[in-house]
Amino acid sequence: MGSRYARIAGLGQYVPPHVVTNQDLARLVDTSDEWIQSRTGITERHFVEGDEATSSMAARAGCEALATAGARADEVDLVIVATSTPDYPLFPSTACLVQASLGLTRAGAYDISAACSGFVYGLITASQFIATGAYEHVLVIGADALSRFVNFEDRSTCVLFADGAGAAMLVASDTPGGLLSFVLGADGTGGEHLIVPAGGSRRPPTAETVGAREHSIHMNGREVYRFSTTVPADALRRAAADAGLAVEDLSLVVAHQANVRILQTVARNLNVPEDLFFRNVERFGNTSAASVPLALYDACAQRRLKPGALVGLMGFGAGLTWATAIWRWHDLPSNP
Ligand code: ACO
Repeated sequence: MGSRYARIAGLGQYVPPHVVTNQDLARLVDTSDEWIQSRTGITERHFVEGDEATSSMAARAGCEALATAGARADEVDLVIVATSTPDYPLFPSTACLVQASLGLTRAGAYDISAACSGFVYGLITASQFIATGAYEHVLVIGADALSRFVNFEDRSTCVLFADGAGAAMLVASDTPGGLLSFVLGADGTGGEHLIVPAGGSRRPPTAETVGAREHSIHMNGREVYRFSTTVPADALRRAAADAGLAVEDLSLVVAHQANVRILQTVARNLNVPEDLFFRNVERFGNTSAASVPLALYDACAQRRLKPGALVGLMGFGAGLTWATAIWRWHDLPSNP
Protein backbone atom coordinates (compact mmCIF):
# COMPACT_ATOMS: atom_id res chain seq x y z
CA MET A 1 0.00 0.00 0.00
CA GLY A 2 1.23 3.55 -0.80
CA SER A 3 1.25 6.43 1.65
CA ARG A 4 -2.06 7.34 3.23
CA TYR A 5 -2.91 10.92 4.16
CA ALA A 6 -5.66 12.15 6.46
CA ARG A 7 -7.96 14.48 4.54
CA ILE A 8 -10.56 16.59 6.35
CA ALA A 9 -13.47 15.72 4.08
CA GLY A 10 -16.25 17.36 6.11
CA LEU A 11 -16.72 19.75 9.00
CA GLY A 12 -19.67 20.19 11.36
CA GLN A 13 -20.62 22.51 14.17
CA TYR A 14 -23.33 23.02 16.74
CA VAL A 15 -23.95 25.64 19.39
CA PRO A 16 -27.04 25.65 21.59
CA PRO A 17 -29.74 28.19 20.65
CA HIS A 18 -29.64 29.94 24.05
CA VAL A 19 -27.51 33.11 23.64
CA VAL A 20 -26.09 34.82 26.73
CA THR A 21 -24.80 38.38 26.28
CA ASN A 22 -22.36 40.29 28.45
CA GLN A 23 -25.32 42.34 29.67
CA ASP A 24 -27.04 39.13 30.80
CA LEU A 25 -23.95 38.23 32.88
CA ALA A 26 -23.76 41.75 34.30
CA ARG A 27 -27.15 41.06 35.87
CA LEU A 28 -25.67 38.02 37.69
CA VAL A 29 -22.23 39.26 38.83
CA ASP A 30 -20.45 42.58 39.33
CA THR A 31 -19.09 43.01 35.80
CA SER A 32 -19.78 45.04 32.66
CA ASP A 33 -19.88 44.66 28.91
CA GLU A 34 -16.96 47.10 28.73
CA TRP A 35 -14.78 45.01 31.12
CA ILE A 36 -15.53 41.73 29.37
CA GLN A 37 -14.96 43.12 25.89
CA SER A 38 -11.76 44.97 26.74
CA ARG A 39 -10.20 42.00 28.61
CA THR A 40 -11.45 39.13 26.43
CA GLY A 41 -13.06 40.39 23.20
CA ILE A 42 -16.16 38.28 23.97
CA THR A 43 -19.58 39.83 23.34
CA GLU A 44 -21.86 36.81 23.57
CA ARG A 45 -21.81 33.05 23.98
CA HIS A 46 -24.15 30.03 23.93
CA PHE A 47 -25.20 27.93 26.94
CA VAL A 48 -26.92 24.55 27.01
CA GLU A 49 -30.36 24.36 28.58
CA GLY A 50 -32.64 21.61 29.86
CA ASP A 51 -31.74 18.18 28.51
CA GLU A 52 -28.88 19.34 26.30
CA ALA A 53 -25.47 17.89 27.13
CA THR A 54 -22.03 17.43 25.63
CA SER A 55 -23.03 14.29 23.71
CA SER A 56 -26.12 15.87 22.15
CA MET A 57 -24.05 18.81 20.85
CA ALA A 58 -21.27 16.46 19.73
CA ALA A 59 -23.72 14.23 17.84
CA ARG A 60 -25.18 17.19 15.96
CA ALA A 61 -21.76 18.47 14.92
CA GLY A 62 -20.67 14.94 14.01
CA CYS A 63 -23.80 14.38 11.94
CA GLU A 64 -23.07 17.48 9.84
CA ALA A 65 -19.41 16.50 9.34
CA LEU A 66 -20.47 13.05 8.18
CA ALA A 67 -23.05 14.46 5.79
CA THR A 68 -20.77 17.09 4.23
CA ALA A 69 -18.07 14.44 3.74
CA GLY A 70 -20.64 12.23 2.02
CA ALA A 71 -19.68 9.42 4.41
CA ARG A 72 -22.08 6.73 5.61
CA ALA A 73 -22.46 6.04 9.32
CA ASP A 74 -21.50 2.38 8.84
CA GLU A 75 -18.23 3.37 7.15
CA VAL A 76 -16.83 5.10 10.25
CA ASP A 77 -14.02 3.06 11.85
CA LEU A 78 -13.47 5.19 14.93
CA VAL A 79 -15.01 8.14 16.75
CA ILE A 80 -12.88 10.21 19.12
CA VAL A 81 -14.52 12.83 21.32
CA ALA A 82 -12.29 15.40 23.01
CA THR A 83 -14.07 16.74 26.08
CA SER A 84 -13.58 17.73 29.72
CA THR A 85 -17.31 17.76 30.39
CA PRO A 86 -18.54 14.23 29.61
CA ASP A 87 -22.27 13.54 30.10
CA TYR A 88 -21.33 11.10 32.87
CA PRO A 89 -18.28 11.45 35.14
CA LEU A 90 -17.04 7.85 34.79
CA PHE A 91 -18.80 5.92 32.05
CA PRO A 92 -20.16 5.50 29.47
CA SER A 93 -17.80 7.74 27.55
CA THR A 94 -19.27 10.60 25.55
CA ALA A 95 -17.85 8.98 22.39
CA CYS A 96 -19.97 5.86 23.10
CA LEU A 97 -23.09 8.03 23.40
CA VAL A 98 -22.27 9.69 20.08
CA GLN A 99 -21.54 6.31 18.49
CA ALA A 100 -25.02 5.13 19.47
CA SER A 101 -26.75 8.36 18.55
CA LEU A 102 -25.25 8.47 15.04
CA GLY A 103 -25.54 4.71 14.44
CA LEU A 104 -21.79 4.29 13.87
CA THR A 105 -22.24 0.53 14.10
CA ARG A 106 -18.67 -0.46 13.10
CA ALA A 107 -16.84 2.26 15.03
CA GLY A 108 -14.65 2.02 18.09
CA ALA A 109 -15.18 4.96 20.42
CA TYR A 110 -13.22 6.74 23.12
CA ASP A 111 -12.81 10.13 24.75
CA ILE A 112 -9.66 12.23 24.98
CA SER A 113 -9.13 14.46 28.01
CA ALA A 114 -6.79 17.33 27.17
CA ALA A 115 -9.04 20.32 27.95
CA CYS A 116 -8.85 23.11 25.37
CA SER A 117 -6.06 21.24 23.51
CA GLY A 118 -8.28 18.17 23.14
CA PHE A 119 -9.47 18.58 19.56
CA VAL A 120 -5.94 19.08 18.21
CA TYR A 121 -4.74 16.10 20.30
CA GLY A 122 -7.62 14.12 18.75
CA LEU A 123 -6.89 15.20 15.19
CA ILE A 124 -3.22 14.23 15.55
CA THR A 125 -4.18 10.87 17.09
CA ALA A 126 -6.73 10.15 14.35
CA SER A 127 -4.19 11.02 11.66
CA GLN A 128 -1.86 8.29 12.95
CA PHE A 129 -4.56 5.61 12.47
CA ILE A 130 -4.98 6.78 8.89
CA ALA A 131 -1.26 7.15 8.13
CA THR A 132 -0.60 3.56 9.27
CA GLY A 133 -3.32 2.29 6.94
CA ALA A 134 -5.30 0.88 9.88
CA TYR A 135 -8.41 3.03 9.31
CA GLU A 136 -10.10 4.88 6.45
CA HIS A 137 -12.75 6.98 8.23
CA VAL A 138 -12.23 8.61 11.64
CA LEU A 139 -14.64 11.13 13.13
CA VAL A 140 -13.01 13.61 15.52
CA ILE A 141 -15.22 15.82 17.67
CA GLY A 142 -14.41 18.52 20.21
CA ALA A 143 -17.34 19.29 22.51
CA ASP A 144 -17.76 20.92 25.89
CA ALA A 145 -20.52 22.28 28.11
CA LEU A 146 -18.44 24.32 30.54
CA SER A 147 -21.41 26.47 31.56
CA ARG A 148 -22.49 23.48 33.66
CA PHE A 149 -19.27 23.73 35.71
CA VAL A 150 -18.90 27.46 36.13
CA ASN A 151 -19.53 29.20 39.43
CA PHE A 152 -21.91 32.03 38.55
CA GLU A 153 -20.73 33.87 41.66
CA ASP A 154 -17.12 34.01 40.39
CA ARG A 155 -16.91 36.89 37.95
CA SER A 156 -13.35 36.07 36.93
CA THR A 157 -14.38 32.78 35.29
CA CYS A 158 -18.11 32.90 34.53
CA VAL A 159 -17.65 35.51 31.81
CA LEU A 160 -15.13 33.40 29.87
CA PHE A 161 -16.52 29.91 29.31
CA ALA A 162 -19.28 28.64 27.04
CA ASP A 163 -20.71 25.63 25.24
CA GLY A 164 -20.54 24.12 21.76
CA ALA A 165 -19.23 21.34 19.53
CA GLY A 166 -17.24 21.06 16.33
CA ALA A 167 -16.35 18.01 14.26
CA ALA A 168 -14.06 16.90 11.46
CA MET A 169 -14.56 13.79 9.35
CA LEU A 170 -11.15 12.43 8.39
CA VAL A 171 -10.97 10.21 5.33
CA ALA A 172 -7.87 8.40 4.03
CA SER A 173 -6.52 9.85 0.82
CA ASP A 174 -3.68 9.02 -1.59
CA THR A 175 -3.20 12.73 -2.31
CA PRO A 176 -0.38 14.17 -0.16
CA GLY A 177 -1.57 16.60 2.50
CA GLY A 178 -3.17 16.65 5.91
CA LEU A 179 -0.87 16.42 8.92
CA LEU A 180 2.68 17.52 8.02
CA SER A 181 4.12 17.88 11.53
CA PHE A 182 3.03 18.28 15.11
CA VAL A 183 4.05 19.00 18.68
CA LEU A 184 2.16 17.52 21.63
CA GLY A 185 3.09 18.95 24.99
CA ALA A 186 2.17 19.01 28.66
CA ASP A 187 3.39 20.50 31.91
CA GLY A 188 1.56 18.74 34.71
CA THR A 189 3.30 20.91 37.29
CA GLY A 190 0.88 23.69 36.25
CA GLY A 191 -2.24 21.60 36.81
CA GLU A 192 -3.37 23.61 39.83
CA HIS A 193 -3.75 26.81 37.76
CA LEU A 194 -6.93 25.58 36.09
CA ILE A 195 -8.71 22.89 38.04
CA VAL A 196 -12.04 21.47 39.19
CA PRO A 197 -10.93 20.37 42.66
CA ALA A 198 -13.65 17.83 43.54
CA GLY A 199 -15.81 15.17 41.89
CA GLY A 200 -12.99 12.77 40.97
CA SER A 201 -11.34 9.91 42.85
CA ARG A 202 -9.27 12.26 45.02
CA ARG A 203 -12.28 14.13 46.38
CA PRO A 204 -15.50 12.34 45.50
CA PRO A 205 -18.68 14.39 45.75
CA THR A 206 -20.01 15.05 49.24
CA ALA A 207 -22.42 17.62 50.63
CA GLU A 208 -19.33 19.50 51.83
CA THR A 209 -17.62 19.63 48.40
CA VAL A 210 -20.86 20.75 46.79
CA GLY A 211 -21.40 23.41 49.47
CA ALA A 212 -17.85 24.71 48.98
CA ARG A 213 -18.36 24.94 45.20
CA GLU A 214 -15.45 22.61 44.60
CA HIS A 215 -17.14 21.12 41.54
CA SER A 216 -16.73 24.28 39.54
CA ILE A 217 -13.78 25.74 37.65
CA HIS A 218 -11.03 27.40 39.72
CA MET A 219 -8.54 29.44 37.72
CA ASN A 220 -5.40 31.44 38.33
CA GLY A 221 -5.99 33.84 35.42
CA ARG A 222 -2.57 35.47 35.43
CA GLU A 223 -0.66 32.17 35.36
CA VAL A 224 -2.91 30.82 32.60
CA TYR A 225 -2.40 34.02 30.64
CA ARG A 226 1.38 33.82 31.05
CA PHE A 227 1.42 30.21 29.86
CA SER A 228 -1.02 30.77 26.97
CA THR A 229 0.97 33.63 25.48
CA THR A 230 4.36 31.89 25.50
CA VAL A 231 4.56 28.07 25.41
CA PRO A 232 2.05 27.30 22.59
CA ALA A 233 3.65 29.93 20.34
CA ASP A 234 7.00 28.23 20.74
CA ALA A 235 5.36 24.89 19.93
CA LEU A 236 3.85 26.36 16.75
CA ARG A 237 7.28 27.61 15.72
CA ARG A 238 8.76 24.15 16.33
CA ALA A 239 5.98 22.35 14.43
CA ALA A 240 6.47 24.72 11.49
CA ALA A 241 10.24 24.14 11.55
CA ASP A 242 9.68 20.35 11.57
CA ALA A 243 7.70 20.80 8.35
CA GLY A 244 10.54 22.91 6.87
CA LEU A 245 8.52 26.10 7.29
CA ALA A 246 8.42 29.35 9.25
CA VAL A 247 5.22 30.59 10.90
CA GLU A 248 5.15 33.36 8.24
CA ASP A 249 4.69 30.68 5.55
CA LEU A 250 1.30 29.69 6.97
CA SER A 251 -1.81 31.17 5.35
CA LEU A 252 -3.83 30.96 8.56
CA VAL A 253 -3.45 29.92 12.18
CA VAL A 254 -6.57 28.45 13.75
CA ALA A 255 -5.86 28.66 17.47
CA HIS A 256 -7.87 27.99 20.59
CA GLN A 257 -10.25 30.90 21.09
CA ALA A 258 -9.61 31.70 24.75
CA ASN A 259 -9.60 35.44 24.35
CA VAL A 260 -8.59 38.12 21.87
CA ARG A 261 -5.79 39.53 24.00
CA ILE A 262 -4.08 36.13 24.11
CA LEU A 263 -4.28 35.79 20.31
CA GLN A 264 -2.96 39.33 19.77
CA THR A 265 -0.07 38.79 22.17
CA VAL A 266 0.84 35.45 20.59
CA ALA A 267 0.87 37.07 17.12
CA ARG A 268 3.08 39.85 18.44
CA ASN A 269 5.46 37.39 20.13
CA LEU A 270 5.73 35.46 16.87
CA ASN A 271 6.28 38.67 14.93
CA VAL A 272 3.41 37.96 12.49
CA PRO A 273 0.35 40.09 11.64
CA GLU A 274 -2.61 39.75 14.02
CA ASP A 275 -4.93 38.70 11.21
CA LEU A 276 -2.87 35.55 10.58
CA PHE A 277 -4.79 34.28 13.62
CA PHE A 278 -8.43 33.51 12.85
CA ARG A 279 -10.90 34.90 15.38
CA ASN A 280 -14.47 34.08 16.30
CA VAL A 281 -14.23 34.20 20.10
CA GLU A 282 -16.44 37.32 19.99
CA ARG A 283 -19.58 35.26 19.29
CA PHE A 284 -18.77 32.00 21.06
CA GLY A 285 -16.60 32.69 24.13
CA ASN A 286 -14.18 30.01 25.28
CA THR A 287 -15.80 26.70 24.29
CA SER A 288 -12.73 24.65 25.30
CA ALA A 289 -12.34 21.53 23.10
CA ALA A 290 -14.96 22.87 20.68
CA SER A 291 -13.18 26.12 19.99
CA VAL A 292 -10.62 25.02 17.37
CA PRO A 293 -13.16 23.09 15.24
CA LEU A 294 -15.73 25.91 15.57
CA ALA A 295 -13.06 28.32 14.33
CA LEU A 296 -12.00 25.93 11.56
CA TYR A 297 -15.62 25.69 10.45
CA ASP A 298 -16.05 29.47 10.31
CA ALA A 299 -12.70 29.94 8.56
CA CYS A 300 -13.86 27.47 5.94
CA ALA A 301 -17.27 29.13 5.60
CA GLN A 302 -15.49 32.46 5.07
CA ARG A 303 -13.29 30.86 2.35
CA ARG A 304 -10.12 31.49 4.33
CA LEU A 305 -8.89 27.93 3.61
CA LYS A 306 -8.02 27.23 -0.01
CA PRO A 307 -6.99 23.79 -1.28
CA GLY A 308 -3.26 23.37 -0.69
CA ALA A 309 -3.19 26.06 2.03
CA LEU A 310 -0.80 25.57 4.94
CA VAL A 311 -2.70 25.95 8.19
CA GLY A 312 -1.39 26.07 11.74
CA LEU A 313 -3.62 24.47 14.37
CA MET A 314 -2.95 25.42 17.95
CA GLY A 315 -4.60 24.17 21.13
CA PHE A 316 -3.62 25.08 24.70
CA GLY A 317 -5.30 24.75 28.03
CA ALA A 318 -5.69 23.01 31.36
CA GLY A 319 -3.31 20.26 32.32
CA LEU A 320 -1.36 22.29 31.35
CA THR A 321 -1.47 20.96 27.79
CA TRP A 322 -0.71 22.19 24.30
CA ALA A 323 -0.88 20.72 20.81
CA THR A 324 0.16 22.32 17.55
CA ALA A 325 -0.06 20.91 14.05
CA ILE A 326 0.83 22.02 10.55
CA TRP A 327 -1.90 20.88 8.18
CA ARG A 328 -1.99 21.04 4.39
CA TRP A 329 -5.63 21.66 3.47
CA HIS A 330 -7.26 19.38 0.90
CA ASP A 331 -10.24 20.40 -1.19
CA LEU A 332 -13.57 19.91 0.61
CA PRO A 333 -16.41 18.21 -1.29
CA SER A 334 -18.73 20.96 -0.02
CA ASN A 335 -17.94 24.06 2.03
CA PRO A 336 -19.96 24.88 5.17
N1 ACO B 1 -15.63 42.00 35.64
C1 ACO B 1 -15.06 43.03 36.29
N2 ACO B 1 -13.93 42.91 36.98
C2 ACO B 1 -13.33 41.72 37.02
C3 ACO B 1 -13.87 40.60 36.37
C4 ACO B 1 -15.07 40.78 35.66
N3 ACO B 1 -15.66 39.77 34.99
N4 ACO B 1 -13.05 39.55 36.58
C5 ACO B 1 -12.04 39.99 37.34
N5 ACO B 1 -12.21 41.29 37.62
C6 ACO B 1 -11.37 42.16 38.42
C7 ACO B 1 -10.51 41.41 39.40
O1 ACO B 1 -11.26 41.12 40.57
C8 ACO B 1 -9.41 42.41 39.66
O2 ACO B 1 -9.88 43.32 40.61
P1 ACO B 1 -8.92 43.77 41.83
O3 ACO B 1 -7.72 44.38 41.16
O4 ACO B 1 -9.79 44.74 42.56
O5 ACO B 1 -8.62 42.52 42.56
C9 ACO B 1 -9.29 43.15 38.35
O6 ACO B 1 -10.45 42.84 37.59
C10 ACO B 1 -8.07 42.80 37.55
O7 ACO B 1 -7.94 41.40 37.59
P2 ACO B 1 -6.84 40.72 36.73
O8 ACO B 1 -6.88 39.25 36.98
O9 ACO B 1 -5.54 41.44 36.93
O10 ACO B 1 -7.42 41.06 35.29
P3 ACO B 1 -6.66 40.85 33.97
O11 ACO B 1 -6.53 42.14 33.29
O12 ACO B 1 -5.44 40.01 34.14
O13 ACO B 1 -7.70 39.95 33.16
C11 ACO B 1 -8.29 37.67 32.70
C12 ACO B 1 -8.24 38.78 33.74
C13 ACO B 1 -9.12 38.11 31.52
C14 ACO B 1 -8.90 36.43 33.32
C15 ACO B 1 -6.83 37.40 32.26
O14 ACO B 1 -6.02 37.08 33.36
C16 ACO B 1 -6.76 36.31 31.26
O15 ACO B 1 -7.08 36.49 30.13
N6 ACO B 1 -6.27 35.10 31.67
C17 ACO B 1 -6.32 33.95 30.85
C18 ACO B 1 -7.46 33.18 31.32
C19 ACO B 1 -8.16 32.41 30.24
O16 ACO B 1 -8.31 32.78 29.11
N7 ACO B 1 -8.63 31.30 30.68
C20 ACO B 1 -9.38 30.50 29.83
C21 ACO B 1 -9.20 29.12 30.16
S1 ACO B 1 -7.65 28.59 29.80
C22 ACO B 1 -7.57 28.41 28.26
O17 ACO B 1 -8.53 28.33 27.59
C23 ACO B 1 -6.23 28.35 27.76
